[in-house]
Amino acid sequence: MASFDFEGHITDIVDYPKPGVVFKDITTLLKDPDGFAATIDAIADHFAEAGVTKVVGAEARGFMIGAPVAYRLHAGFVPARKPGKLPREVRSASYELEYGTDELQIHVDAIGPDDVVLIVDDLVATGGTAEAQVKLIEQFGAKVAGLGFLMELAFLNPRETIAKVTDAEVFSLV
Ligand code: PRP
Ligand code: ADE
Repeated sequence: MASFDFEGHITDIVDYPKPGVVFKDITTLLKDPDGFAATIDAIADHFAEAGVTKVVGAEARGFMIGAPVAYRLHAGFVPARKPGKLPREVRSASYELEYGTDELQIHVDAIGPDDVVLIVDDLVATGGTAEAQVKLIEQFGAKVAGLGFLMELAFLNPRETIAKVTDAEVFSLV
């Protein structure tokens, strides 16, 4: 399955959600049983020896990739949600997107200082979402083991942004 054509199963939508943005639509990959399995397996296999105890995934597409990766690693899954969605006390971090700004929150009891945390998302663009998640995880005193993505928009230099907040490994399939 290592040779799966991930890129060929992702659909480019020009000028969505606003002019100048090429939106990478992963639903055409996720609906393919082989594509979905290859995506989860490749990210989980890459971090199999990292001692991951928790996977953090950001709403909403981070849930689609992060939760099954956590299952494969036998790690816990921690949702990083947009404001007002989590019912108990939260820690928060704000961030900038390729097309806007937002905030992510995690329940205060979701991560402990001994956790080894893997950040998983479908796509890294500016790296703002990943940066916010690193900052959130650090608020808990936990270690970031790595960051795993299905797709990286390298022309937006997300690795530079991420390197400012962590030296953890960044791994992308495409
Ligand atoms: C997308 C994507 C990543 C983020 C990447 O999520 O799933 O989380 O943008 O962009 P960045 O590297 O510039 O921060 P989005 O905020 O669009 O939300 P969604 O998953 O709910 O569609
Ligand atoms: N999130 C941020 N930028 C994106 C893009 N170009 N396509 C899909 N999701 C995104």
